[in-house]
Amino acid sequence: MNNPRVHVSNHPLIRHKLTKLRDINTEPKKFRELIREIAILLAYEATADLAVEENTVVTPLQETTGYRLKEKIGLVPILRAGLGMVEGFWEMMPPAEVWHIGFYRDERTLKPVAYYNRLPVSPTVEVCVVLDPMLATGGSAVECVNLLKKWGAQRIKFVGMIGAPEGIAKLTEAHPDIDIFLGAIDERLTTEEDAFPAGYIMPGLGDAGDRQFGTG
Ligand code: PRP
Ligand code: URA
Repeated sequence: MNNPRVHVSNHPLIRHKLTKLRDINTEPKKFRELIREIAILLAYEATADLAVEENTVVTPLQETTGYRLKEKIGLVPILRAGLGMVEGFWEMMPPAEVWHIGFYRDERTLKPVAYYNRLPVSPTVEVCVVLDPMLATGGSAVECVNLLKKWGAQRIKFVGMIGAPEGIAKLTEAHPDIDIFLGAIDERLTTEEDAFPAGYIMPGLGDAGDRQFGTG
């Protein structure tokens, strides 16, 4: 992937944990733990360009100059599967606001259907970080970013665990101004010819929402 806006981690910890996440034998409890842990690692990578400002700190030895995050950050998990990524990010940036957005994919058309949005009238944060483990056709991510831009969000990042080439292409075409952080890029989306329903990431990990919440 030579789009400089698409960042795919090659961190060994992410590769290791992502492999466990994919494993069909990984139970929901472990799956949720892995989502949280990978989210922490991706948070580290996705926040490298956040602005800081100097502040003063008193150590046991003397007063010195330190730094604090300058911008207000909003975490935007796409329901349901994005929920599991919130905790890891929030641990790293406790003052972040969390704005839930609900989309589900219509099983037949694969188009995202919006069902939850309680964003206030105008933006309350300077950086929005959209969280969703799966970037498949890209429909949900594109619609979520559309919504955030309409809201007035100035800086938006997308963070996911696995992206399909189709979804990455769709998101970068629709929103070339956002940075995308992923744990891996997989081969393709499934079609009617595959044993799994069409529109899933191959090899992927299956249904991220069902695997987290035990509803599969
Ligand atoms: C999954 C996933 C994304 C979406 C990705 O959610 O969490 O939101 O599919 O697919 P797309 O890139 O083709 O839009 P799903 O619709 O299964 O809802 P859920 O998280 O509530 O299970
Ligand atoms: N949503 C999922 O949860 N998994 C996929 O592979 C595609 C969409």
